[in-house]
Amino acid sequence: MERLLITGGRPLRGSVTICGAKNSALALLPAAILSESVVTLDNLPELSDIEVFVCILEELGTKIERIGDQMTIDSRNISLVSMNNELVQKLRASYYLMGALLGRFGEAIIGLPGGCNFEPRPIDQHIKGFEAMGAEVHYEHGAIHLRAKKLSGAKIYLDVASVGATINIMLAASRAKGVTLIENAAKEPEIIDVATLLNAMGAKIKGAGTETIRIEGVVEMHGCRHSIIPDRIQIGTYMIMAAATRGDVTVENVIPKHMEALTAKLQEMGVEVIEMDESIRVIGKDEYESIDVKALVYPGFATDLQSPMTTLLTQANGISVLTDNVYNARFKQVPELQKMGAKIRVEGRSAIIEGSNLRGAKVFATDLRAGAALVIAGLIATSGVTEIHGVEYIDRGYDGLVNNLRGLGAEIWRESE
Ligand code: EPU
Repeated sequence: MERLLITGGRPLRGSVTICGAKNSALALLPAAILSESVVTLDNLPELSDIEVFVCILEELGTKIERIGDQMTIDSRNISLVSMNNELVQKLRASYYLMGALLGRFGEAIIGLPGGCNFEPRPIDQHIKGFEAMGAEVHYEHGAIHLRAKKLSGAKIYLDVASVGATINIMLAASRAKGVTLIENAAKEPEIIDVATLLNAMGAKIKGAGTETIRIEGVVEMHGCRHSIIPDRIQIGTYMIMAAATRGDVTVENVIPKHMEALTAKLQEMGVEVIEMDESIRVIGKDEYESIDVKALVYPGFATDLQSPMTTLLTQANGISVLTDNVYNARFKQVPELQKMGAKIRVEGRSAIIEGSNLRGAKVFATDLRAGAALVIAGLIATSGVTEIHGVEYIDRGYDGLVNNLRGLGAEIWRESE
């Protein structure tokens, strides 16, 4: 076990290059096993969640080679095996094996997904989709069993525009017989990325990125090469860090359009944000205005940036209100920030945040984005050293965090506990 230590108060300056998106990569890896050939992914992040997924795929017989940020996935000789539940339960995204294995074999047995459990995260919409496509689903010994005699296209209306359910249904439907229509589909950029890979593998998907996705099933899928989109949540986290530390940071490998909701909110506070073709420069200021933020599905403000934003809003004058309309109770960062002097109270789905000075303290990351919120708090603490435990959560989603931040001038280091 390791911990992170930060001496705050230094403005971040310089540039940082962001890798491919975790939440795309975690769907693209299982998508690749729908093909009976070799798929190559470029711009792959180096994250513990990816390593776990690779181990899971290897158990199925997938041959995987990684050189730098490139990975080849050869699923020619995979077979349906009983999955190692311990590995499956380490990840939320292991639920994508349901769609991928259903598509490839018409059958799957998968342990219940784990991951960052900041609140109960149901998968009823995934199951509803698979059942509509003809799969029989039952639970036994902590695992979900899915079997379809004939996986067929269906019209599926999602009660919530779920990212996971949209992708999972796309995976299964790519190799089902007939046409699947997903209505009220999620529109996140990661969905377009997965559809782009699947189409390059021979799938026939239209409408990804809109609320209706049409998937015409195909019998076979082939190999291809695909470059993963940049990680908009890591980008957003560095943008928030630049603003919070009153620094001047250029974030490279960015699709600025993906960042519009955050950019607008930063500008509303008084942060200077300059968009370029594939990068964004964020210049912090001494004084910020308080603002209200509502986390929504894309293209709204990302829920995954809600926790980092909580920390930034402690630097605004007056009272800000941050509401999460995607999750009911994603505020595990708040009690930890309070230990550092933040004046925040939670009321229902909202955090009410008052401008305050933060000081170093011993705090615990309880999930990935709450961990990011604490790193930002450590970077701006005006006294003491911040000691963050639960670093393994942060490692799930921030590739090269310590080196990147040191490169930007932060005083941050890791130590064994
Ligand atoms: N929901 C249901 N039923 C379902 C599925 C979702 O009620 O069957 C609800 C959830 O409880 C939640 C909302 O719908 O309130 C949104 O959940 P969604 O399914 O969209 O989330 P997810 O697919 O499980 C992905 C990301 C999350 C990110 C959300 C929302 C991955 C592996 N995870 O989760 O990322 O917060 O979309 O954008 O892609 C993170 O990176 O820190 C993270 C948690």
